[in-house]
Amino acid sequence: MSEWWRDAVVYQVYIRSFADGNADGIGDIAGLNSKLEYIAELGVDGIWINPWYPSPLNDGGYDVADYRDVDERIGTLAAAEALVERAHSVGLKVLLDLVPNHTSSEHPWFVEALASEPGSAARSRYHFRHGRGDRSAPTNWRSVFGGPAWTLAADGQWYLHVFDPTQPDLNWDNPDVVAEFEAILRFWLDRGFDGFRVDVAHALAKDPTWSDFEDTGLDDLPPGSHPFFDRDELLRVVQRWRSVLDEYDGRMMVAEAVVPIDRLARYLGPDRYHQAFNFSFLEAGWDAGRVRSVIEDSLALGTSQTWVLSNHDAVRHATRFGLPDGVDAKRWLLDGPHHLLDPDRGLRRARAAALLMLALPGSAYVYQGEELGLPEVWDLPTDRLEDPIWIRSERSVKGRDGCRVPMPWTEEGPSFGFGGPDPWLPQPEWFGRYSAERQANDASSTLMMYREALERRRQLGGGVTIVDMGGDVVAFRRDSGHLCVVNMGSSPVPMPPGRLVVASGDVGTGTLEPDTAVWIGDVV
Ligand code: GLC
Repeated sequence: MSEWWRDAVVYQVYIRSFADGNADGIGDIAGLNSKLEYIAELGVDGIWINPWYPSPLNDGGYDVADYRDVDERIGTLAAAEALVERAHSVGLKVLLDLVPNHTSSEHPWFVEALASEPGSAARSRYHFRHGRGDRSAPTNWRSVFGGPAWTLAADGQWYLHVFDPTQPDLNWDNPDVVAEFEAILRFWLDRGFDGFRVDVAHALAKDPTWSDFEDTGLDDLPPGSHPFFDRDELLRVVQRWRSVLDEYDGRMMVAEAVVPIDRLARYLGPDRYHQAFNFSFLEAGWDAGRVRSVIEDSLALGTSQTWVLSNHDAVRHATRFGLPDGVDAKRWLLDGPHHLLDPDRGLRRARAAALLMLALPGSAYVYQGEELGLPEVWDLPTDRLEDPIWIRSERSVKGRDGCRVPMPWTEEGPSFGFGGPDPWLPQPEWFGRYSAERQANDASSTLMMYREALERRRQLGGGVTIVDMGGDVVAFRRDSGHLCVVNMGSSPVPMPPGRLVVASGDVGTGTLEPDTAVWIGDVV
């Protein structure tokens, strides 16, 4: 059976912001189709497409109203079927985003639940409960987006939503829910899709005692004791999904499980997920000690590694790395001060981090635009923000729109080649400088570095040995005779001997400059 995913590089397509074929301001399947060659030429093995299902878009499509169709602004089911075929013909696998923790409040099931009696079968597909006393929610749980995790329905019952009130949580103890998602998996697998990225995979089980709880974060809690994150019961569901996937050849699922690294292994294995994103790597910052220990802890899991630097929920790493250590990038978006940002340093480090990630064993997920060194658009006007976090946090957290701004394809022209004149989020005037068009003609560009690294990466293989080159340097050797060295310190270090395979910045003086990474070949 094909285990293509074990060392694959998967390119994340945030479809609404990727390419807009019909110029209505929203990226779509036609646009993605027109860029498949670009993705294939980059040298990746597959794509993961963020949710494209019919949705009121209260949370960027993570509020799904119909799991078996495509939103009409994005395309049609027929276009989706044609896309997967064409992607396969250019050598790309296609993963979809499965959103099993919650539906949209516009999903027919939830509409039916609201119209039904307390205690009805329709309500038991979700978590409806009576409050405590007069107008007090069943528990004190807080929503991830801010505010209470319960909303009062018209007849006095409350329903649970770990995210937005328009994203009611499904009850995974309900057999209808279990059966429905197995059917949804088969629906897409039968159409040739290669698997799924599973949204909030750590949230499917809820504490059946419905107790109050003071949230101190998963790190400080006994394992499995959080009322709605990382509970042991959720693995039952996963095992069923895995047996469905195993009926098909070469399919996979990758979990978005936001849990401490020592808990991640439970999600993985031959009867569980194939992979789970390594968010500890994303969060390690520019600190050699931290990065080394995340790499060591991750390798110790002994499973397929899944490295990631950016995604549609994180401040883009070209900006994160341009901020002083210790600054919380998400807060900084709102509070600044913005002079703290050093964009050149951010880009240098982003390029070096990419070489680090791509030299590690296992697979890597590349978020659209990171191959262009695209920074966060941190100064989006607040009246254009769409992320529910902005409102739910009472305007204290700006949210994730700044990493979702539509891609710059050309240096000039309407929406820098994205599509029509009026993209759903405004692009800054400097976006064209980062365009794929401009970078394709510049041998020293970030795009060309990604292409080169992705091509050369195919020569890398075998195990990893961490090499000690000083406290501020992350260095490791692959069994294929390649050495990856990243200088995270503030002074140059000697360049190790050997054949230079790829570099993230200028080299040639016999030293490796700060914020720079290289791959060296023929290392004995
Ligand atoms: C995941 C998604 C995020 C979404 C949330 C709720 O974390 O990546 O974008 O808001 O789930 O579905």
